[in-house]
Amino acid sequence: MERGRKTLSNVIHSQVQLHAGYGGVVPELAARDHLERLPHLVDMALERAGVEARDIGLIAATRGPGLAGCLLVGTGVAEGLATAWSVPLTGVNHLWGHIYAAMLSTPDLEPPILGLVVSGAHSDLVRMPSHGHFEVIGRTRDDAAGEAFDKAARMLGLGYPGGPVMDRLARQGDPRRQSLPRPSLPGLEYSFSGLKTALLYRLRDIGEPGEQARADLAAAFEHSVVESLLEKLDQALDQAPCNEVVVAGGVAANTLLRRRAAEVVGNRARLTMPPLELCTDNAAMIAAAGFFGGVHPTTVDPSLGWGA
Ligand code: KG4
Ligand code: ZN
Repeated sequence: MERGRKTLSNVIHSQVQLHAGYGGVVPELAARDHLERLPHLVDMALERAGVEARDIGLIAATRGPGLAGCLLVGTGVAEGLATAWSVPLTGVNHLWGHIYAAMLSTPDLEPPILGLVVSGAHSDLVRMPSHGHFEVIGRTRDDAAGEAFDKAARMLGLGYPGGPVMDRLARQGDPRRQSLPRPSLPGLEYSFSGLKTALLYRLRDIGEPGEQARADLAAAFEHSVVESLLEKLDQALDQAPCNEVVVAGGVAANTLLRRRAAEVVGNRARLTMPPLELCTDNAAMIAAAGFFGGVHPTTVDPSLGWGA
């Protein structure tokens, strides 16, 4: 990454195959695979970028939130490289990383930004008044949007990872034929556990759903999640208008969310949703956040050389 905006290389190793047989992420396997792959991935990233270790001025690594074992491996490798190469180290908040992904696809994007970060573990509405400053103004009380998609997919027998499969199946369905409730809490909070239960009960009533019924249920579930996410974004934008809106994180890859977010934001603001490969977890967004100060607030430990 050059000055936080220009990606020289962005190497991704997917663990989808590794976890698919278990129907979800197995933390221990994930951490072990990180340990095996990371050194090789660093070499690949340097080679593809056409740079050498001595060209590196800053190392950024995710400090959280995330799976403890994976974070430990990532920060351990980062500490080792920083010591070996004598470069400073910065610990990035993973969620702010998702917002910075938008700046890679829209180079003139600058704060203030109103953001919706929707991932496997978070559904957060955030305000970013300036680089490195973030305020969470709304979040989920229970499941995150991605988690809801993953669990719904499992209930429908669709396998892992659930989000992309639900997305594909929903395109064949009609959300009105099996409509599900749209969760709506007061204020800017989300909740998806009731919707999940509604799907569970519907499936129990149906018994063994046929192909069309499963597609309709996927479409109905997706519709409820997307409209719920956007209802609060709409509300937040009304409450405090902002010229730049970012919708990012793994769930921002969702086809319906991409289409409806553009309609909901309309001409009130410029909407940036990163391209699909920058929505799901990637290293480029962490590098960008590290450069601009998307530092993890609670875990920076100066004694380890963190917090450059
Ligand atoms: O940000 P991310 O890659 O990892 C985390 O930080 O959690 O997000 C992963 C989540 C998963 O729950 C996955 O099912 C969901 O994003 N996801 C999608 C789609 N692609 C990924 N959800 C809905 N539609 C998609 N197309
Ligand atoms: Zn993520």
